[in-house]
Amino acid sequence: MSTHRPLVLSPAPSRCSLEMLTLHYGDVYEHSPWVAEAAWHHGLNEEHDAPDGLAQLMGLMLQQASSEQQINVIRAHPDLAGKAAISGELTQDSTSEQAGAGLHHCSADEFAQFESLNEAYKKKFGFPFVIAVKGLDRGAILAAFEERLNNAAATERQTAIEHIIRIACLRLIDRASKA
Ligand code: GUN
Repeated sequence: MSTHRPLVLSPAPSRCSLEMLTLHYGDVYEHSPWVAEAAWHHGLNEEHDAPDGLAQLMGLMLQQASSEQQINVIRAHPDLAGKAAISGELTQDSTSEQAGAGLHHCSADEFAQFESLNEAYKKKFGFPFVIAVKGLDRGAILAAFEERLNNAAATERQTAIEHIIRIACLRLIDRASKA
C-alpha cells in the first residue's frame, strides 16, 4: 500500500492573512514579496495549499506583471558563482541552490568563465543570468549560459521569468516536504 501523502504547505496559504502570507511566503521570489501579496489579493483557496497550486498562482502574478516589474525581479537575483556567493552574502535558498549545483566547488578556471559570462550577459541584457539549476552540473550550466547569450532580449527576459517561476516552485516543494 502506498503511504504517499499529498504535499501541503504549512501554514496553509488559504488560511493566511496578507501579513502571514508575506511573512511565510514573501521570500519565495528573491527579494520580491509583492508577488506573494498579489497572489493574496487575487484570492486563495485550498488548491493553493499545495506547493504547485500556490506556485502556479504566484507564477501567473509574475507573468501578468509589467516588463519593468519582471526585470526588477530578475535583477534581484545574485550572479551565479559570483562575488556575493563567494563571500556568503546570498539568501539561504540561493546558497543551497548554488551549492546543490556544485558551484561552490568551481575551479579557478570555472570561476573565471562564470565571471566573464556574467559580465557579458549583464552587458547585453541589463540583468543577471538566472537558471533553475536543479539537476544541472557546472558544465551543463556553462553550456546553457553560452547558448542563452545568443538570444534576443525579449526572448531572454521571458526565458529568465520561466526559470524564476520554476525556482519558486522548487522552493515551495522543498518547504512542503520539510513541513
Ligand atoms: N538559479 C537558482 N538559484 C539562483 C541564484 O541564486 N542566482 C541565479 N542567477 N540563478 C539561480
